[in-house]
Amino acid sequence: MVELADAVRDYPFRQKHLLGLSDYTRDDILFVLDQAKYFREILDRPVPKVPTLRDKTIVNLFYENSTRTRLSFELAQKRMGADVVNFSAGTSSAQKGESLKDTIRNISSMKIDMVVARHESPGVPYFLTRQVDAAIINAGDGAHEHPTQALLDMFTMQQIYPDLRGKKIAIIGDISYSRVVRSNILGLSKVGAKVVVCGPKTMMPAFVDALGAHVSYNLEETLAWCDVAMALRIQLERQGNATELFPSIREYHQKFGIKMEHLEKYPNFTVMHPGPINRGVEMESDVADSDRAVILNQVTNGVAVRMAVLYLLSGNTGG
Ligand code: CP
Repeated sequence: MVELADAVRDYPFRQKHLLGLSDYTRDDILFVLDQAKYFREILDRPVPKVPTLRDKTIVNLFYENSTRTRLSFELAQKRMGADVVNFSAGTSSAQKGESLKDTIRNISSMKIDMVVARHESPGVPYFLTRQVDAAIINAGDGAHEHPTQALLDMFTMQQIYPDLRGKKIAIIGDISYSRVVRSNILGLSKVGAKVVVCGPKTMMPAFVDALGAHVSYNLEETLAWCDVAMALRIQLERQGNATELFPSIREYHQKFGIKMEHLEKYPNFTVMHPGPINRGVEMESDVADSDRAVILNQVTNGVAVRMAVLYLLSGNTGG
């Protein structure tokens, strides 16, 4: 860990929280990704542990379902020796009507250093910074941002393309309701990648232009162009009646699903997906399992990226 400490001293990382990549500079992002390389290497050791957070107490505050993000944060925290407590809204006193404000202030009274928060409402991580004196990490707030997902996506891309400047990244699917797309556009644009978003017109919001991404409605053209194709799940839970946005799941798959024939026709692009996948909708099942897909690498890398984020923010609590 000597190298890590040296590297940390080399860059004036001044962030106290990770609320979104909108708040992080290009150098902040590249620094986090650089630190994550050390933690990724640690994960391959026979004993993948470092005691860097052994004096920290972290609460994982989840008001929304999660498999990858929650387990990944918890593993990252345990690999670093932190004391970890998990809060699930569904089994908590939130079910008896306790407000988010009261919940977090009560948890804070138990002396915590960091909060990892997922909530269906955009802006909740910002709200938490005003309630407690702890570092706040956004693990997904509604359709707003999912910064650690974008960081792990960029880290995975860097394993193929160490310099992301000029790399062509396509994000395909339900753009309107995706926090992953917003964080990825912000992060990828800051590090100099070119981003095209592709999907049905009914799922294409105005904000992508403002964030600097280009729009395509043509999957074939997009796949012919890109170095990386990241497919997104249709966010049924945020759409109400999703079938109003496209005629049917079958038609959506026909028009925007990545298929084995695409892998043969366009031999260069890498397939990514933040998960969870709806097999047979955003991509054929064989595509997800093919050697062109790095979807499980994304998950492995997520632990390393979250270890880096936790480590870097752990020294800045209380401020
Ligand atoms: N990618 C992602 O956020 O997955 P989970 O919802 O399972 O955490």
